[in-house]
Amino acid sequence: MNIVLIGFMGTGKSAVGKRLAERLNRPFLELDRIIEEREGCSIAEIFERRGEAHFRRMERAAVHVAAQLPDVVIATGGGAALDDENVKALKATGILVCLTATPEVIRERVGDVRTRPLLSGAADPLAEIKRLLAARAPRYALADHIVDASHLSVDDVVESVVRLVTRGA
Ligand code: S3P
Repeated sequence: MNIVLIGFMGTGKSAVGKRLAERLNRPFLELDRIIEEREGCSIAEIFERRGEAHFRRMERAAVHVAAQLPDVVIATGGGAALDDENVKALKATGILVCLTATPEVIRERVGDVRTRPLLSGAADPLAEIKRLLAARAPRYALADHIVDASHLSVDDVVESVVRLVTRGA
């Protein structure tokens, strides 16, 4: 089975995914990076030039390709789990682990919002993070496991995920 990290931006999906893949000796796929490579520009530029709907189409295509691979670690973008078809495809071949963090921790980890199209236009990024988290909570709750990464190191989150996914395996 694949291990699929979902959850809001700034919760550590990329850093955890990379280390988790090393730890388990599996290939690591980061969907946002795959999309950037395919488009030849950054996520922020894709949103700016082609719009969010185009980005979501690219994301859906990347999800469906990644979900067909065997035994990989996948880090999704924060919005991938909003789409029913994405969740269905990822669940068919993988265990979904949602990383969470408090809005304050997310705000700190996100840093410069200019690289985050969903936050870059907000007058108050923390308030926007809280609003989006509340709106997305039911989607992130579709995960098989949830790990609160607010106060854990990357290695600690990796070990928590390993314990969860190997339990009963
Ligand atoms: C998004 C999160 C981003 C990226 C895009 C949209 C979202 O990924 O896919 O900006 O809708 O939450 P990260 O979660 O890796 O920042």
